[in-house]
Amino acid sequence: MAAAQGVAVITGAASGFGLELCRLAAASGMHVVLADVEAQALARAEAEIAALGAHTLACVTDVAQGAQVQALADATLARFGAPTLLVNNAGVSSGGLAWENTEADWHWVCGVNLMGVANGLRSFTPLMLDAARQDPAWRGHIVNTASLAGWQAAPTLGLYNATKFAVVGLTETLHHDLALVTDQVYASVLCPALVPTGIVHSERNRLHSAAQTATASQKAGRSLVEVGMAQSRVSARDVAVQVMQAVGKNQFYIFTHPEQMGPVHQRFDDVRQGRAPTDPFAHLPMVSAHLRSLLRQGRG
Ligand SMILES: NC(=O)c1ccc[n+]([C@@H]2O[C@H](COP(=O)([O-])OP(=O)(O)OC[C@H]3O[C@@H](n4cnc5c(N)ncnc54)[C@H](O)[C@@H]3O)[C@@H](O)[C@H]2O)c1
Repeated sequence: MAAAQGVAVITGAASGFGLELCRLAAASGMHVVLADVEAQALARAEAEIAALGAHTLACVTDVAQGAQVQALADATLARFGAPTLLVNNAGVSSGGLAWENTEADWHWVCGVNLMGVANGLRSFTPLMLDAARQDPAWRGHIVNTASLAGWQAAPTLGLYNATKFAVVGLTETLHHDLALVTDQVYASVLCPALVPTGIVHSERNRLHSAAQTATASQKAGRSLVEVGMAQSRVSARDVAVQVMQAVGKNQFYIFTHPEQMGPVHQRFDDVRQGRAPTDPFAHLPMVSAHLRSLLRQGRG
């Protein structure tokens, strides 16, 4: 095996973007630390990545639990040293009208999507800064996975949108904070639109609280997401390739669907003009009309 080209720590490594990132990290000669809450899928992923020739460490980790993320950081440091690439990527989705998510829904989605990122930053950034202090040639990069949902607030996705807006804001602040203390560690925020992955089956990993029976708006939101995913021309691998390229050139914003930025630019215009937000589905009037007729009749 060639000399290692760094150490990648990837959360949500057993599926979707995370697994594709592990494949690319291994192919580029990195040691790969895979973290995921789904033990069997994680074991399969580790076996595949090890078979590519990478040195691997797999840790069953619930990123919502700070102690488990700290144990992941300790194990990474002991085995490989500080990560040169940290991807806080694990995430789950839950839809529905903003007032319909239960308190348990909020704890679950905020726990994974927001606290998971915060826990990753708390446990790993100090290790990366230590490595940077010890070697002026050392470089590290942190990627936080947000979403286009961190920029456009589509209906029936309020809880998910809230966590992704938070990850965008947190990562912009991380960029500024890192620049205050070092020139050797960089940050990026990943903002994809819909891509077919396992995210529509997020409930499979719901550990601490059961979901309630889906409401009409949750069913409608889910079918919208499924239709959007089925129409996507961008694959999880395409997204992972863009992430690795962005890391290589210290690119902060990673927008993987430039053709879908219209509603984001519309939102900026609304803010500039002091208008109420335009429906992000305004360019798809059939979608809004369908949702409205469904929900006003109370059918799902
Ligand atoms: N697929 C999309 O359309 C899309 C679009 C924008 C953003 N994203 C974001 O991309 C990220 C990756 O999602 P994906 O689309 O690859 O979905 P995915 O379901 O295929 O992969 C997510 C992985 O996270 C893991 N996970 C779930 N809860 C966890 C927890 N508590 N601790 C550790 N791991 C946990 C799952 O087991 C799974 O392996 C998420 O943050 C998601 O919000 C996805």
